[in-house]
Amino acid sequence: MNEKQKACKVLVLISGRGSNMAALLKTQGSYFVEAVLSDRAEAPGLAIAAEAKVPVVESFSRTDYPTKHQQKLAIYSRVRALNPELICLAGFMQILESDFVDEFYGRIINIHPSLLPNLPGLDTHRRALESNFAVHGCSVHFVDGGMDTGPLIAQCRVEVQPCETEGVLAERVLAREHMVYPWVCEQIAKGAIRLDRSSAADRGRVSFAPEAVAESNRLGIHLCR
Ligand code: GRF
Repeated sequence: MNEKQKACKVLVLISGRGSNMAALLKTQGSYFVEAVLSDRAEAPGLAIAAEAKVPVVESFSRTDYPTKHQQKLAIYSRVRALNPELICLAGFMQILESDFVDEFYGRIINIHPSLLPNLPGLDTHRRALESNFAVHGCSVHFVDGGMDTGPLIAQCRVEVQPCETEGVLAERVLAREHMVYPWVCEQIAKGAIRLDRSSAADRGRVSFAPEAVAESNRLGIHLCR
């Protein structure tokens, strides 16, 4: 078995630019991105994935399906066929349906540009500035059926500068996203971050191996314990 075959198989779902997906591609080692799926044929991230020779790069355009629900079912069915060990949402602009989330619960993670539970949803940088937040940032979490909810894994804080523009703040947060998302993915692949559950009804508790804790301190990553 070669290194790629041994690595944790990751599937990335995107809708747009794909910069977090690109960051995940750069840091492969313990995990291997075997598929990138998009719900938009025009997502710029698709070309990046194809260029990086990701084995499966596919889009499921809304216009190819009679309803949005059927589009979602097509995406879910492809994900099931590929049976990834980990699904990374990277700017995927759809709420996953609860049956699908239940089926893959504990194997789906998301990156969000705010310190959750603050500011779920869109326009987080503008809202952080409007609310005069002194500190903003990004979060990685396991996905449940809600919008930007589910057990938190890790966060990076960014201090808001006086008179900072939305664009500059967004860039500074994005730089942290590109560091923390691959790191979390790597730790999950190595078994150093886990979601422990006592039953299917239990949403679970995130646990961290000592080496993940030590490394997070060095990298300025806050683990959500
Ligand atoms: C990122 O800010 C991510 O946190 C959010 O959507 C944006 C996607 O950007 N979920 P990109 O497509 O990864 O560049």
